[in-house]
Amino acid sequence: MLSRRKFIQLCMSSALTLSLSDALTPVLRQAQAETRAEKPPVIWLELGSCTGNTISLDNAVNPSLRQFLDETIDLRYHWTFNAAQGEQAVAAMLETVARDAGKFWLVIEGSVMTADNGRYNEIFARNGEMITGLAALQEFAPQARYVIAVGDCACYGGPAAAHPNPGGAKGVWDVVTDKLIINIPGCPAHPDWMTGTFSHLALYGLPELDAYQRPKMFFGRTIHELCQRRQQFEDGIFAAFPGEDGCLYRVGCKGPVTHADCPLRQWNHYINWPVKAGTPCIGCASPHFPDGMMPFYNHLPDIQTPAVTVNIKKVGAAFAALGIGAVGTHLVAGICARRIHKHYLDGTKPSDPTPPETLEQVRQELDDLIRQQNALLSEAKQLERPQRKPRRRKSLLKRALSFWHTEDKDGKGK
Ligand code: SF4
Ligand code: F3S
Repeated sequence: MLSRRKFIQLCMSSALTLSLSDALTPVLRQAQAETRAEKPPVIWLELGSCTGNTISLDNAVNPSLRQFLDETIDLRYHWTFNAAQGEQAVAAMLETVARDAGKFWLVIEGSVMTADNGRYNEIFARNGEMITGLAALQEFAPQARYVIAVGDCACYGGPAAAHPNPGGAKGVWDVVTDKLIINIPGCPAHPDWMTGTFSHLALYGLPELDAYQRPKMFFGRTIHELCQRRQQFEDGIFAAFPGEDGCLYRVGCKGPVTHADCPLRQWNHYINWPVKAGTPCIGCASPHFPDGMMPFYNHLPDIQTPAVTVNIKKVGAAFAALGIGAVGTHLVAGICARRIHKHYLDGTKPSDPTPPETLEQVRQELDDLIRQQNALLSEAKQLERPQRKPRRRKSLLKRALSFWHTEDKDGKGK
């Protein structure tokens, strides 16, 4: 049987040079024959999301979706792929929970809507009663063998949890805190990240995870480490606009703070990825996407890279759009530096803003935010103005000139 080490090497290698499906399919077949293991029953629930991860899985080629469903998992419930409908489909799901407790895998796509006790997101009916995504997760998760969050929304809240977040959207790990959640982020998650993680679980159990509970084999390195434009970054060749040649750092690339292997794996059947297409990485696989990655076309302050520490004074506009309170410039810089430190170096979870209760509160928050942003933008403009020359240099120059004149007058000058 393929060793775990070799499997991880396959997962981490370029999909162009090695076929994961060619390597995996016979291994999975052999493993199932050797252990007489049944394929794991899987319940896939969609909560607050756009079905993007399902569409992404549908685009899997290596292995294909069909191979994946035939060889790797026993998909018992998925509202897009179900053959049955309505009560029949729900009955199959509930039967799996009852019969295969402790065995089934629970996959969650989409963020958990927690406001108003989850009523913004009802996902099926049982005995005439609508069941919310929140209630289903709380009921099923304790009985599942693995809980796997796919896509940034399920992992960390994602776009659904962007400020002001009236639905109280949260990542699964913020709701189910007493069980390990395997996070496969991305907006959407790459099909290989899903099929590779599922295959690892089936063959070898839990893969090695990082502080954000992401499989290291796919999220162990930053986009920046793997990027084809890295040499241009090192050489200081920067694009001034998206679409231009050169490193896209100055037009907002979040590659230096985003962990994923997009440059190596690539998307759309392994032919392209954002930077190759001329657009900066917007950090869609980051735990801080999207609020912490905005504005998408401004670069972030004070990012430490091997070659560069970005001047914090040049990114006032970026501070403003991060929605930080209207405080003095130095305080803003301090907060940002700590924020970057907290998010990217500590590995701690960002705190959630308290969701507003009423529409009036939402409006009030938006008005406040716009006022704060305007105040910060005007501070940022001040910072962008050319700085006066330092006094010391002026006075030194004056002193040198006066000395020269004095010397000249005395006849000892030149
Ligand atoms: Fe590539 Fe972005 Fe890093 Fe530039 S900043 S080298 S475009 S990942
Ligand atoms: Fe997303 Fe950046 Fe990859 S935007 S797809 S993490 S290159």
